[in-house]
Amino acid sequence: MPTEYNIFLTGATGFAGGTILDCLAKVHPDIRIKALIRQEEVAKELESVYPNLTAVVGDLASLPLLKSTAAEADFVIHAGGDDIPALCAMIHGLASRNRGSDAESHGPQLLSLTGPRSLIDLSKPITGSLDPKSRPWSDITDAQRILSVPEDRIHADADQAIIAHSKSRGVGTILVSPGQLWGQGKGHLKKERHAAFYYAAVKSRGRAFVVGDGTATWSWTSIGDLGDAVVFLMEQSLSEEFQGRVGVNDKGYYFVSSGDLSMIERAKAVTERLGLREGVESISAAAAKEIHPFGHIMWGCGERVRADKLAELGWRPKDLDWKALMEEHGGERA
Ligand SMILES: NC(=O)c1ccc[n+]([C@@H]2O[C@H](COP(=O)([O-])OP(=O)(O)OC[C@H]3O[C@@H](n4cnc5c(N)ncnc54)[C@H](OP(=O)(O)O)[C@@H]3O)[C@@H](O)[C@H]2O)c1
Repeated sequence: MPTEYNIFLTGATGFAGGTILDCLAKVHPDIRIKALIRQEEVAKELESVYPNLTAVVGDLASLPLLKSTAAEADFVIHAGGDDIPALCAMIHGLASRNRGSDAESHGPQLLSLTGPRSLIDLSKPITGSLDPKSRPWSDITDAQRILSVPEDRIHADADQAIIAHSKSRGVGTILVSPGQLWGQGKGHLKKERHAAFYYAAVKSRGRAFVVGDGTATWSWTSIGDLGDAVVFLMEQSLSEEFQGRVGVNDKGYYFVSSGDLSMIERAKAVTERLGLREGVESISAAAAKEIHPFGHIMWGCGERVRADKLAELGWRPKDLDWKALMEEHGGERA
Protein backbone atom coordinates (compact mmCIF):
# COMPACT_ATOMS: atom_id res chain seq x y z
CA MET A 1 0.00 0.00 0.00
CA PRO A 2 1.46 3.45 -0.88
CA THR A 3 2.86 5.22 2.15
CA GLU A 4 1.35 8.60 1.31
CA TYR A 5 -2.12 7.52 2.44
CA ASN A 6 -3.84 9.60 5.10
CA ILE A 7 -6.13 7.83 7.53
CA PHE A 8 -8.50 9.65 9.87
CA LEU A 9 -9.44 7.59 12.96
CA THR A 10 -11.98 8.32 15.67
CA GLY A 11 -12.24 6.43 18.97
CA ALA A 12 -8.46 5.92 19.12
CA THR A 13 -8.47 6.03 22.92
CA GLY A 14 -11.11 3.28 23.17
CA PHE A 15 -10.98 -0.51 23.37
CA ALA A 16 -11.67 -1.21 19.69
CA GLY A 17 -10.26 2.03 18.21
CA GLY A 18 -7.08 1.73 20.31
CA THR A 19 -6.56 -1.78 18.97
CA ILE A 20 -7.19 -0.64 15.40
CA LEU A 21 -4.66 2.18 15.85
CA ASP A 22 -2.07 -0.23 17.19
CA CYS A 23 -2.62 -2.74 14.35
CA LEU A 24 -2.47 0.03 11.73
CA ALA A 25 0.71 1.50 13.18
CA LYS A 26 2.41 -1.91 13.38
CA VAL A 27 1.39 -3.17 9.94
CA HIS A 28 1.81 0.16 8.12
CA PRO A 29 4.34 2.18 10.10
CA ASP A 30 4.67 4.70 7.27
CA ILE A 31 1.07 5.70 6.66
CA ARG A 32 -0.06 8.97 8.19
CA ILE A 33 -2.80 8.69 10.81
CA LYS A 34 -4.81 11.60 12.15
CA ALA A 35 -6.77 10.69 15.27
CA LEU A 36 -9.59 12.63 16.91
CA ILE A 37 -8.77 12.87 20.61
CA ARG A 38 -10.71 14.82 23.21
CA GLN A 39 -7.99 15.73 25.68
CA GLU A 40 -4.75 17.55 24.97
CA GLU A 41 -2.66 15.46 27.43
CA VAL A 42 -3.97 12.17 26.00
CA ALA A 43 -3.23 13.49 22.50
CA LYS A 44 0.39 14.17 23.47
CA GLU A 45 0.74 10.75 25.08
CA LEU A 46 -0.53 8.90 21.99
CA GLU A 47 1.66 11.02 19.69
CA SER A 48 4.69 9.99 21.74
CA VAL A 49 3.77 6.28 21.45
CA TYR A 50 2.88 6.34 17.73
CA PRO A 51 5.29 8.49 15.67
CA ASN A 52 3.04 8.38 12.58
CA LEU A 53 0.06 9.77 14.53
CA THR A 54 -1.05 13.39 14.54
CA ALA A 55 -3.75 14.22 17.04
CA VAL A 56 -6.72 16.32 16.05
CA VAL A 57 -7.97 17.68 19.35
CA GLY A 58 -11.74 17.85 19.42
CA ASP A 59 -14.81 15.73 19.92
CA LEU A 60 -17.57 14.20 17.87
CA ALA A 61 -19.65 17.36 18.29
CA SER A 62 -16.96 19.36 16.42
CA LEU A 63 -18.75 18.84 13.09
CA PRO A 64 -16.81 21.36 10.92
CA LEU A 65 -13.54 19.84 12.20
CA LEU A 66 -14.75 16.31 11.37
CA LYS A 67 -15.83 17.40 7.91
CA SER A 68 -12.59 19.18 7.05
CA THR A 69 -10.36 16.40 8.46
CA ALA A 70 -12.31 13.71 6.58
CA ALA A 71 -12.05 15.81 3.40
CA GLU A 72 -8.24 15.49 3.59
CA ALA A 73 -8.26 11.74 4.30
CA ASP A 74 -8.02 8.84 1.89
CA PHE A 75 -9.88 6.63 4.34
CA VAL A 76 -11.84 7.27 7.55
CA ILE A 77 -12.23 4.72 10.35
CA HIS A 78 -14.89 5.49 12.96
CA ALA A 79 -14.71 3.62 16.27
CA GLY A 80 -16.47 6.23 18.37
CA GLY A 81 -20.01 4.80 18.63
CA ASP A 82 -23.38 5.50 16.99
CA ASP A 83 -23.12 9.26 16.47
CA ILE A 84 -25.17 10.04 13.37
CA PRO A 85 -24.38 13.79 13.05
CA ALA A 86 -20.65 13.08 13.41
CA LEU A 87 -20.79 10.33 10.79
CA CYS A 88 -22.80 12.54 8.42
CA ALA A 89 -20.20 15.32 8.81
CA MET A 90 -17.40 12.90 7.89
CA ILE A 91 -19.42 11.59 4.93
CA HIS A 92 -19.85 15.21 3.74
CA GLY A 93 -16.10 15.71 4.00
CA LEU A 94 -15.37 12.53 2.02
CA ALA A 95 -18.01 13.46 -0.57
CA SER A 96 -16.20 16.73 -1.24
CA ARG A 97 -13.25 14.66 -2.54
CA ASN A 98 -15.44 12.73 -4.98
CA ARG A 99 -16.47 15.59 -7.24
CA GLY A 100 -19.95 14.25 -7.86
CA SER A 101 -19.39 10.75 -9.24
CA ASP A 102 -21.08 7.68 -7.74
CA ALA A 103 -20.01 5.82 -4.61
CA GLU A 104 -19.17 2.48 -6.17
CA SER A 105 -16.69 4.06 -8.54
CA HIS A 106 -14.63 5.28 -5.57
CA GLY A 107 -14.86 2.05 -3.58
CA PRO A 108 -14.88 2.19 0.22
CA GLN A 109 -13.86 5.45 1.89
CA LEU A 110 -15.42 5.11 5.36
CA LEU A 111 -15.36 2.13 7.72
CA SER A 112 -17.55 2.43 10.79
CA LEU A 113 -17.88 -0.02 13.69
CA THR A 114 -21.30 -1.30 14.64
CA GLY A 115 -22.52 -4.51 16.29
CA PRO A 116 -24.95 -7.43 15.97
CA ARG A 117 -27.10 -6.21 18.86
CA SER A 118 -29.32 -4.72 16.12
CA LEU A 119 -30.44 -8.30 15.42
CA ILE A 120 -32.03 -8.73 18.85
CA ASP A 121 -35.78 -8.30 18.94
CA LEU A 122 -36.29 -6.73 22.36
CA SER A 123 -40.08 -6.71 21.90
CA LYS A 124 -39.90 -10.43 22.78
CA PRO A 125 -39.26 -11.55 26.38
CA ILE A 126 -35.62 -12.26 27.25
CA THR A 127 -35.40 -15.89 28.36
CA GLY A 128 -31.65 -16.55 28.33
CA SER A 129 -32.28 -19.56 26.05
CA LEU A 130 -31.17 -20.24 22.51
CA ASP A 131 -34.24 -20.30 20.30
CA PRO A 132 -34.10 -23.77 18.67
CA LYS A 133 -35.71 -22.30 15.54
CA SER A 134 -33.04 -19.60 15.15
CA ARG A 135 -30.12 -19.90 12.75
CA PRO A 136 -26.91 -17.93 12.32
CA TRP A 137 -27.08 -14.73 10.28
CA SER A 138 -25.01 -14.50 7.12
CA ASP A 139 -23.76 -11.11 5.94
CA ILE A 140 -24.22 -12.36 2.38
CA THR A 141 -27.60 -14.08 2.29
CA ASP A 142 -29.16 -11.91 5.05
CA ALA A 143 -27.57 -8.60 4.00
CA GLN A 144 -30.84 -6.92 3.15
CA ARG A 145 -32.63 -8.11 6.31
CA ILE A 146 -29.76 -6.95 8.53
CA LEU A 147 -30.02 -3.40 7.16
CA SER A 148 -33.80 -3.22 7.39
CA VAL A 149 -34.49 -4.31 10.98
CA PRO A 150 -36.76 -1.89 12.90
CA GLU A 151 -34.94 1.38 13.50
CA ASP A 152 -35.67 1.41 17.23
CA ARG A 153 -33.23 -1.47 17.77
CA ILE A 154 -29.71 -0.90 19.14
CA HIS A 155 -27.37 0.39 16.36
CA ALA A 156 -30.14 0.08 13.71
CA ASP A 157 -30.95 3.79 13.33
CA ALA A 158 -27.28 4.65 12.98
CA ASP A 159 -26.55 1.76 10.58
CA GLN A 160 -29.43 2.73 8.31
CA ALA A 161 -28.81 6.49 8.48
CA ILE A 162 -25.12 6.05 7.64
CA ILE A 163 -25.88 3.89 4.61
CA ALA A 164 -28.68 6.18 3.36
CA HIS A 165 -26.48 9.25 3.79
CA SER A 166 -23.49 7.61 2.13
CA LYS A 167 -25.62 6.63 -0.86
CA SER A 168 -27.11 10.10 -1.21
CA ARG A 169 -23.63 11.69 -1.06
CA GLY A 170 -21.93 9.16 -3.31
CA VAL A 171 -19.60 7.85 -0.58
CA GLY A 172 -18.72 4.17 -0.20
CA THR A 173 -19.21 2.98 3.39
CA ILE A 174 -18.42 -0.28 5.15
CA LEU A 175 -20.05 -1.26 8.45
CA VAL A 176 -17.97 -3.70 10.49
CA SER A 177 -19.91 -5.70 13.05
CA PRO A 178 -17.93 -7.84 15.51
CA GLY A 179 -19.62 -10.20 17.93
CA GLN A 180 -18.52 -10.36 21.56
CA LEU A 181 -14.93 -9.18 21.78
CA TRP A 182 -12.50 -11.42 23.69
CA GLY A 183 -8.97 -10.86 24.89
CA GLN A 184 -6.91 -7.91 26.07
CA GLY A 185 -7.11 -4.72 23.97
CA LYS A 186 -3.92 -4.07 21.99
CA GLY A 187 -4.13 -0.29 22.30
CA HIS A 188 -2.03 1.88 24.58
CA LEU A 189 -4.94 2.98 26.77
CA LYS A 190 -8.15 0.97 27.19
CA LYS A 191 -7.42 -2.73 27.53
CA GLU A 192 -10.66 -4.22 28.85
CA ARG A 193 -14.35 -4.03 28.03
CA HIS A 194 -17.47 -6.19 28.42
CA ALA A 195 -15.82 -9.49 29.43
CA ALA A 196 -14.38 -7.64 32.44
CA PHE A 197 -17.90 -6.65 33.59
CA TYR A 198 -19.01 -10.28 33.83
CA TYR A 199 -15.83 -11.36 35.62
CA ALA A 200 -16.20 -8.51 38.14
CA ALA A 201 -19.90 -9.31 38.71
CA VAL A 202 -19.17 -13.01 39.31
CA LYS A 203 -16.33 -12.16 41.69
CA SER A 204 -18.41 -9.77 43.74
CA ARG A 205 -21.35 -12.25 43.99
CA GLY A 206 -19.04 -15.20 44.66
CA ARG A 207 -20.99 -17.25 42.13
CA ALA A 208 -21.32 -17.39 38.35
CA PHE A 209 -24.75 -16.77 36.91
CA VAL A 210 -26.74 -17.09 33.69
CA VAL A 211 -30.17 -15.85 32.65
CA GLY A 212 -32.60 -18.81 32.46
CA ASP A 213 -30.79 -21.94 31.27
CA GLY A 214 -27.89 -19.94 29.81
CA THR A 215 -28.04 -21.52 26.36
CA ALA A 216 -28.28 -18.04 24.74
CA THR A 217 -25.27 -17.86 22.43
CA TRP A 218 -23.31 -14.94 21.03
CA SER A 219 -20.75 -15.26 18.29
CA TRP A 220 -17.40 -13.95 19.40
CA THR A 221 -14.10 -12.82 17.94
CA SER A 222 -10.83 -11.68 19.48
CA ILE A 223 -10.08 -7.98 19.75
CA GLY A 224 -6.83 -8.69 17.86
CA ASP A 225 -8.75 -10.31 15.01
CA LEU A 226 -11.10 -7.31 14.88
CA GLY A 227 -8.08 -5.01 14.43
CA ASP A 228 -6.67 -7.36 11.82
CA ALA A 229 -9.98 -7.53 9.91
CA VAL A 230 -10.30 -3.72 9.86
CA VAL A 231 -6.77 -3.29 8.54
CA PHE A 232 -7.41 -6.05 5.98
CA LEU A 233 -10.60 -4.35 4.73
CA MET A 234 -8.83 -1.00 4.52
CA GLU A 235 -5.93 -2.54 2.58
CA GLN A 236 -8.31 -4.24 0.16
CA SER A 237 -10.27 -1.02 -0.25
CA LEU A 238 -7.21 1.07 -1.06
CA SER A 239 -5.44 -1.48 -3.22
CA GLU A 240 -5.92 -1.09 -6.96
CA GLU A 241 -5.57 -4.85 -7.38
CA PHE A 242 -8.68 -5.50 -5.28
CA GLN A 243 -10.78 -2.52 -6.33
CA GLY A 244 -14.42 -3.43 -6.77
CA ARG A 245 -14.19 -6.57 -4.61
CA VAL A 246 -15.09 -4.87 -1.34
CA GLY A 247 -18.84 -4.17 -1.25
CA VAL A 248 -20.08 -0.83 0.08
CA ASN A 249 -23.34 0.63 1.39
CA ASP A 250 -26.17 -1.92 0.82
CA LYS A 251 -23.46 -4.53 0.17
CA GLY A 252 -21.13 -3.16 2.82
CA TYR A 253 -22.13 -4.85 6.12
CA TYR A 254 -19.36 -7.19 7.39
CA PHE A 255 -19.57 -9.47 10.41
CA VAL A 256 -16.32 -10.42 12.13
CA SER A 257 -16.72 -13.74 13.91
CA SER A 258 -14.55 -16.63 15.02
CA GLY A 259 -16.92 -18.97 16.88
CA ASP A 260 -20.02 -19.24 19.05
CA LEU A 261 -20.12 -19.24 22.83
CA SER A 262 -23.07 -19.84 25.13
CA MET A 263 -23.45 -18.07 28.45
CA ILE A 264 -23.47 -21.37 30.35
CA GLU A 265 -20.04 -22.26 28.89
CA ARG A 266 -18.69 -18.89 30.07
CA ALA A 267 -20.26 -19.33 33.50
CA LYS A 268 -18.78 -22.82 33.95
CA ALA A 269 -15.35 -21.67 32.80
CA VAL A 270 -15.22 -18.78 35.27
CA THR A 271 -16.51 -21.01 38.08
CA GLU A 272 -13.61 -23.36 37.45
CA ARG A 273 -11.09 -20.57 37.00
CA LEU A 274 -12.01 -18.82 40.24
CA GLY A 275 -12.38 -22.13 42.11
CA LEU A 276 -15.92 -21.20 43.19
CA ARG A 277 -17.61 -23.78 45.39
CA GLU A 278 -21.20 -23.10 44.37
CA GLY A 279 -22.50 -24.06 40.94
CA VAL A 280 -23.90 -21.67 38.34
CA GLU A 281 -26.98 -19.72 39.47
CA SER A 282 -29.94 -19.05 37.18
CA ILE A 283 -31.24 -15.48 37.45
CA SER A 284 -33.97 -13.48 35.69
CA ALA A 285 -33.36 -10.94 32.93
CA ALA A 286 -34.53 -8.21 35.33
CA ALA A 287 -31.92 -9.30 37.90
CA ALA A 288 -29.22 -9.22 35.18
CA LYS A 289 -30.29 -5.65 34.35
CA GLU A 290 -29.89 -4.70 37.99
CA ILE A 291 -26.31 -6.00 37.96
CA HIS A 292 -25.46 -3.96 34.82
CA PRO A 293 -27.71 -1.64 32.74
CA PHE A 294 -27.02 -3.84 29.68
CA GLY A 295 -26.76 -7.11 31.66
CA HIS A 296 -30.04 -8.52 30.33
CA ILE A 297 -28.75 -8.01 26.75
CA MET A 298 -25.11 -9.02 27.25
CA TRP A 299 -25.92 -12.13 29.30
CA GLY A 300 -29.54 -12.98 28.47
CA CYS A 301 -29.58 -12.64 24.67
CA GLY A 302 -27.47 -13.93 21.82
CA GLU A 303 -27.17 -13.89 18.05
CA ARG A 304 -24.93 -16.14 16.00
CA VAL A 305 -23.34 -14.49 12.98
CA ARG A 306 -21.12 -15.68 10.14
CA ALA A 307 -18.37 -13.57 8.57
CA ASP A 308 -19.13 -14.88 5.08
CA LYS A 309 -18.10 -11.71 3.24
CA LEU A 310 -14.69 -11.56 4.89
CA ALA A 311 -14.21 -15.27 4.19
CA GLU A 312 -15.06 -14.65 0.56
CA LEU A 313 -12.33 -11.98 0.44
CA GLY A 314 -9.87 -14.48 1.90
CA TRP A 315 -9.70 -13.25 5.52
CA ARG A 316 -9.60 -15.81 8.37
CA PRO A 317 -9.53 -15.23 12.15
CA LYS A 318 -6.33 -16.29 13.90
CA ASP A 319 -7.44 -16.60 17.54
CA LEU A 320 -9.73 -19.58 17.89
CA ASP A 321 -9.42 -20.43 21.61
CA TRP A 322 -11.72 -18.23 23.72
CA LYS A 323 -10.52 -19.76 27.00
CA ALA A 324 -6.95 -18.73 26.22
CA LEU A 325 -8.21 -15.20 25.50
CA MET A 326 -10.13 -15.19 28.79
CA GLU A 327 -6.95 -15.89 30.69
CA GLU A 328 -4.27 -14.13 28.61
CA HIS A 329 -2.07 -11.65 30.52
CA GLY A 330 -3.74 -12.80 33.77
CA GLY A 331 -6.88 -11.11 32.51
CA GLU A 332 -9.80 -10.50 34.79
CA ARG A 333 -12.36 -11.29 32.08
CA ALA A 334 -14.90 -14.04 31.53
N1 LIG B 1 -16.55 -3.51 22.82
C1 LIG B 1 -17.30 -4.42 22.23
O1 LIG B 1 -17.46 -5.55 22.74
C2 LIG B 1 -17.98 -4.11 20.91
C3 LIG B 1 -18.64 -5.15 20.24
C4 LIG B 1 -19.29 -4.85 19.03
C5 LIG B 1 -19.26 -3.56 18.52
N2 LIG B 1 -18.60 -2.58 19.20
C6 LIG B 1 -18.63 -1.21 18.64
O2 LIG B 1 -17.33 -0.67 18.57
C7 LIG B 1 -17.40 0.75 18.76
C8 LIG B 1 -16.37 1.16 19.81
O3 LIG B 1 -16.66 0.45 21.00
P1 LIG B 1 -15.59 0.33 22.17
O4 LIG B 1 -15.95 -0.87 22.92
O5 LIG B 1 -14.22 0.48 21.66
O6 LIG B 1 -15.96 1.62 23.04
P2 LIG B 1 -15.04 2.48 24.02
O7 LIG B 1 -13.91 1.67 24.56
O8 LIG B 1 -15.96 3.11 24.99
O9 LIG B 1 -14.42 3.61 23.07
C9 LIG B 1 -15.18 4.66 22.59
C10 LIG B 1 -14.25 5.65 21.91
O10 LIG B 1 -15.04 6.69 21.35
C11 LIG B 1 -14.57 7.94 21.87
N3 LIG B 1 -15.68 8.85 22.02
C12 LIG B 1 -16.88 8.61 22.58
N4 LIG B 1 -17.63 9.73 22.55
C13 LIG B 1 -16.88 10.69 21.97
C14 LIG B 1 -17.08 12.05 21.67
N5 LIG B 1 -18.24 12.67 21.98
N6 LIG B 1 -16.09 12.74 21.07
C15 LIG B 1 -14.91 12.13 20.75
N7 LIG B 1 -14.65 10.83 21.02
C16 LIG B 1 -15.63 10.13 21.63
C17 LIG B 1 -13.96 7.62 23.21
O11 LIG B 1 -13.10 8.67 23.58
P3 LIG B 1 -12.73 8.99 25.13
O12 LIG B 1 -11.61 8.08 25.49
O13 LIG B 1 -12.33 10.42 25.11
O14 LIG B 1 -13.96 8.72 25.94
C18 LIG B 1 -13.25 6.31 22.86
O15 LIG B 1 -12.06 6.59 22.16
C19 LIG B 1 -18.83 1.07 19.14
O16 LIG B 1 -19.51 1.53 18.01
C20 LIG B 1 -19.39 -0.27 19.57
O17 LIG B 1 -20.77 -0.36 19.36
C21 LIG B 1 -17.96 -2.82 20.38
